[in-house]
Amino acid sequence: MADTLTITDNRTGTQYEVSIAAGAIRATDLKQIKAGPDDKGLVTYDPAFLNTAACRSRITYIDGDAGILRYRGYPIEQLAEDSDFLETAYLILFGELPTQTAQEDWVRQVTLHTMLHENIKRFMEGFLYDAHPMGIFLSTVGALSTFYPDAKNIFDADSRRTQTLRLIAKVPSIAAYAYRHSIGRPYVYPDNDLSFTGNFLNMLFKMTELKYQPHPVLERALDVLFILHADHEQNCSTSAMRVIGSSHGDPYSALTGAAAALYGPLHGGANEAVLRMLQEIGSVGQVPSFMTKIKKGEGRLMGFGHRVYKSYDPRAKIIKQIADLVFSVTGKNPLLEIALELERIALEDDYFVSRRLYPNVDFYSGLIYQAMGFPLDMFPVLFAIPRTAGWIAQWEEMLLDSEQKISRPRQIYDGEAARDYVPMSKRQG
Ligand SMILES: CC(C)(COP(=O)(O)OP(=O)(O)OC[C@H]1O[C@@H](n2cnc3c(N)ncnc32)[C@H](O)[C@@H]1OP(=O)(O)O)[C@@H](O)C(=O)NCCC(=O)NCCS
Repeated sequence: MADTLTITDNRTGTQYEVSIAAGAIRATDLKQIKAGPDDKGLVTYDPAFLNTAACRSRITYIDGDAGILRYRGYPIEQLAEDSDFLETAYLILFGELPTQTAQEDWVRQVTLHTMLHENIKRFMEGFLYDAHPMGIFLSTVGALSTFYPDAKNIFDADSRRTQTLRLIAKVPSIAAYAYRHSIGRPYVYPDNDLSFTGNFLNMLFKMTELKYQPHPVLERALDVLFILHADHEQNCSTSAMRVIGSSHGDPYSALTGAAAALYGPLHGGANEAVLRMLQEIGSVGQVPSFMTKIKKGEGRLMGFGHRVYKSYDPRAKIIKQIADLVFSVTGKNPLLEIALELERIALEDDYFVSRRLYPNVDFYSGLIYQAMGFPLDMFPVLFAIPRTAGWIAQWEEMLLDSEQKISRPRQIYDGEAARDYVPMSKRQG
């Protein structure tokens, strides 16, 4: 017999049977229950989707209490140790680790798509010199939809594959161009001899040298950071990607919305906010008074807390190890001491312990990016590059899921009842 939940309506004594499958009941099964004679059926009220599964997914598994993160079943720790970003992107997008031939083909195809159309470059020149690179990034991704009208063929697998290659390959080029534009340096064209992250560093930092050689430690560190950020199931930006994609527009337009969602300080802007917070604190001596303010509810400890992780974010553990490697090359980030002191106090303080607030992925990533020479406003862009793999995988999964329809949440109407229009001459006040 199938698992069911019996709900008794205490007002009428009526009993309803609702099926339980995969740890969930279907919200639409509750429609059979009426809250009143004219009611169209019970709805669930769940602002910010705290307890609503909006899809079934085979991509990323998180157990927030146990601090587990897996892509397609593979633990993040193993991928960070043994994989590279493009292989992990392949895994996320296509479901399995590639064979040697598939990997070589994938890397070659991505490499072939790194160039941007010259008109895109000119389009980007239109931004003010001090435009935020994330603003440039997301506008440019949106503009790509006009360059690739074939992307509208979303139910054509070949077309989806082409757009996937274009997006994975071009987002680093757009990000690097946005950065070079914001500091007034000429754009650097992709170098196909270099790795995915090596080429990205080349497009960002090449000066007059004939051939840019990325530092192997920094190249690998960035690659691992990209692996850690590649997907994170149904977070704010991924949900935006799915919701926008559910109206069957092209993936560039949907990805623009996802990137816009990532821009906010509670999501992809958090590591930028961490750095600004550390700069504002200024010294280790100021940490206790800063913590007192946070505990009084005056602001948040940025880089702490997570909607899903109620223990140490597994990505934060890996990032702390990378930080040591990066600092051995670049020298220590002077803000590190403040971060370590904040973490030490927070992990012992009842305010944070009782709310299960632990460092998240953003607490240390900003320190690493800054030590590598990235300005603060590039941080959300550095998040958007690898997350592009997750966004596309989730978008495609949504498109091919026969249970999905255009997204359309319900509401509880709290406004005025019907009333007659009042002419201007009769309005009070
Ligand atoms: C990530 C985040 C948005 C999750 O929020 P959430 O799941 O909605 O958690 P809530 O806002 O319900 O917070 C629960 C409690 O912890 C407190 N809290 C949550 N994060 C906090 C933080 N970073 N600093 C101080 N207090 C925090 C809240 O004030 C609330 O306390 P209360 O119960 O006394 O009101 C939140 O933890 C946050 O703002 N963190 C800082 C931003 C950040 O690092 N974002 C990156 C996420 S990867």
